[in-house]
Amino acid sequence: MQIVSTIKEVRTQVKEWKKQGLTIGFVPTMGYLHEGHASLMHRAKKECDKVVASIFVNPMQFGVNEDLDSYPRDLQADAKLCESIGVDLIFHPEVEEMYEQGFCSFVDMNGLTKELCGKSRPIHFRGVCTVVSKLFNIVTPDKAFFGQKDAQQLAVIRRMVKDLNMDIEIVGCPIIREEDGLAKSSRNTYLNEEERKAALILSQTICLGERLVRDGVRDAKALVDAMKENIAREPLAKIDYVEVVSMDTIEKIELLEGAVLVAMAVYIGKTRLIDNFIVELVNL
Ligand code: PAF
Repeated sequence: MQIVSTIKEVRTQVKEWKKQGLTIGFVPTMGYLHEGHASLMHRAKKECDKVVASIFVNPMQFGVNEDLDSYPRDLQADAKLCESIGVDLIFHPEVEEMYEQGFCSFVDMNGLTKELCGKSRPIHFRGVCTVVSKLFNIVTPDKAFFGQKDAQQLAVIRRMVKDLNMDIEIVGCPIIREEDGLAKSSRNTYLNEEERKAALILSQTICLGERLVRDGVRDAKALVDAMKENIAREPLAKIDYVEVVSMDTIEKIELLEGAVLVAMAVYIGKTRLIDNFIVELVNL
């Protein structure tokens, strides 16, 4: 497995592979890899001849009061995990390699980014779209793999690829959870013991929401209220949002029908965690 830090090195290697007729799978990450990332890499390995992973904590997608400086980093452990899965190349650039002096171009989106995480993180998706576009231009993959845990990000990337005619297949992969239900996230590492226990309120509330939908609840407000009430039982939890939106447009809906995303962001202490479930409903 190669670890490279320059755009030129990635391009040279990818060109060589393409000359040999090999397909490229790409897993963009911010590092501090866990089983969620590993599942994306395994899927990429299964579906493509060569797998490239990027590890880059992208400053552009963090707001001023967010956790850019404290975001966990461990390149050695990340490299070990990638190697064990059979990743062929890690791209690990410095900030200056990605954002040269004078950088002033952005990829932004009008729709899909107003609700959910876009509300409390107004510049986040501009940063994500810009860096993912750059990474796509550098790696030129056939397929790119994203986790469903960041459901809004996945919808945004799908829309961007469609709108900008990028010739890349976006593959969404299921949420990977700890044994007790907590969705895997690099940010789980911020939680102390007490907070780690309290964080279970997210997955428990997801289970409650799924059950209510199974039992026939179709009114979005009733569903959100019940889920919020459940989260309120946990004293360490502070709700950022619980929302029901259309999966395609990420706009709020009143009645559950079609492809629906039920998503939440909850602070446990200072740590902001997200979780969600998707339902496909045919209402007769
Ligand atoms: O999901 C992430 O880790 C990041 O948002 C991504 C897609 C790597 C872009 O920086």
